[in-house]
Amino acid sequence: GSLEMYVDPLPQMPKIYGYSMSNGQPSSVKLTMGMFQKKWKFHRDLPPTTVFVYGTDPVTATFPGPTIEALQGVPLWVTWQNYLPAHHILPWDPTIPVAIPSHGGVPTVVHLHGGVNPPQSDGSAFAWFTAGFRDVGPKWTQATYMYPNIQCPGNLWYHDHALGLTRANLLAGLIGAYVIRNATVEAPFGLPSGDLFELHLVIADRSFYKDGSLYMNYTGDNPTIHPEWQPEYFGEAITVNGKAWPFLVVLRCRYRFRILNSSNARYFNLSLSNNLPFTVIGSDSTYLHKPIETLTILIAPSEIFDLVIDFTNSPTQFAEMMNSAAYPYPSGDAPNNLNGRVMKFVVAGNLPMPDESRVPPTLVKYVDSNVEEAVKHRYIVLYEYESPTDDPTHLYINGLRFQDPATEKPKPGTTEVWDVINLTEDNHPLHLHLATFNAKKVTQIQDLDTFKDCMTVLNDAEKCNVTRHAEGPTVPVPDYEKTWKNVVKMTPGYMTTIVVKFRLVHDNGSYPFDVTAEPGYVYHCHILDHEDNEMIRPLKLTYT
Ligand code: C2O
Ligand code: CU
Repeated sequence: GSLEMYVDPLPQMPKIYGYSMSNGQPSSVKLTMGMFQKKWKFHRDLPPTTVFVYGTDPVTATFPGPTIEALQGVPLWVTWQNYLPAHHILPWDPTIPVAIPSHGGVPTVVHLHGGVNPPQSDGSAFAWFTAGFRDVGPKWTQATYMYPNIQCPGNLWYHDHALGLTRANLLAGLIGAYVIRNATVEAPFGLPSGDLFELHLVIADRSFYKDGSLYMNYTGDNPTIHPEWQPEYFGEAITVNGKAWPFLVVLRCRYRFRILNSSNARYFNLSLSNNLPFTVIGSDSTYLHKPIETLTILIAPSEIFDLVIDFTNSPTQFAEMMNSAAYPYPSGDAPNNLNGRVMKFVVAGNLPMPDESRVPPTLVKYVDSNVEEAVKHRYIVLYEYESPTDDPTHLYINGLRFQDPATEKPKPGTTEVWDVINLTEDNHPLHLHLATFNAKKVTQIQDLDTFKDCMTVLNDAEKCNVTRHAEGPTVPVPDYEKTWKNVVKMTPGYMTTIVVKFRLVHDNGSYPFDVTAEPGYVYHCHILDHEDNEMIRPLKLTYT
């Protein structure tokens, strides 16, 4: 049978402060964070599960890891230590480009997703390391990373990024939330706040064996090519903050939820069973200019939505958070009774005092997103290579492998326009490190098969007459995505025109460190199974 839903209360992860206060003045700190193997209880009736998790020590380490709280303008130093055992708890595949240490162990490297980080602290896939730094990858330079936190307040997260192991390392539990705050900007908003009313929801789908261990299919769809790589991992149980289908007792007032989809491949189309709306105030690491009310929200892997739910006039005592997104999205199966449910809110009663929180009429206005400003235009084509059985064997961007020389070499401080053409059947969440971007226009490709066939032969969008094909009807970008994002969903069969900014969007400032240094950055699909095989490319900022 399956696990009973809504029997475990929703936990909040421990908080770690990335600064210290004395006489009201914040100053920098240096943290040491470890990666540990331990047992984690995902459900009342499930035996403990062996996981890999972040924490300051193995006793307090959690799935997901502790939430790191940082302040805008206060840099944070973190030394990441690997205490993982000799062998992985999940399958990995030696036939894709992957970190293989000579002394065994589990290669890891940490990326602060959404962070404006110096390249040496960005967690390059080639900068991996094993326990005790016994083996390190070819681009490894330093054990201590510096997070400048110069960007505007918002939601980030940290997770593993080791070459060819990202899908297994995150599945095992190497994920955690990270917040940048600025009270001067945010306090006047009057949003729900404090440990009771401002909560994180880190969603992840997982499957389990009866003995509690994590289930990940060991057999590739194309076992002769990739014995263990699967194109997408989907779990049957939906976990939030490390519990399968938890419940949360709420009062009749406003709550702020910072929602992160940390799943490998599952999209969620979220709604509440009693039709209460979500009021979206931010996405990824920025605020929206104006709050947007919506009944449903589509959240791709690695995407973040910051929103308010007002339970004051809840028509019912219970509200289930439902998921209606097909998997793979949008071409796959509709969700079932298990993965179609996320968690449950139990509306317990009135707040003993008036609710003084509010959703302000406006939030933050950043610099404009303007196509005319672009100094460079690029075509980015997403492909899937199929075997004779129709199963994908690997995925590429522009037909190139990860290790092929960089072709996207933007100049620091500039704006570019990228036309991202999705020739596959599925949506891909495109993520850029360092930069922020947003979708301006989503245009259907006409005569898709002709264009695809041409691309298969010539691999050149211009020679294949892209402008003649990309003139179908357009679909609107949802209002709740209209801000500077670091992940944008790429609709299959469409060309998504994005404006990419290689400078700071809150003050239009340039980066106060050398972004052209080695090992550079990357951009990739954030379906982790795609990213590992090899929907990922270097992003090499350069002045020349
Ligand atoms: Cu969230 Cu390159 O990663
Ligand atoms: Cu993808």
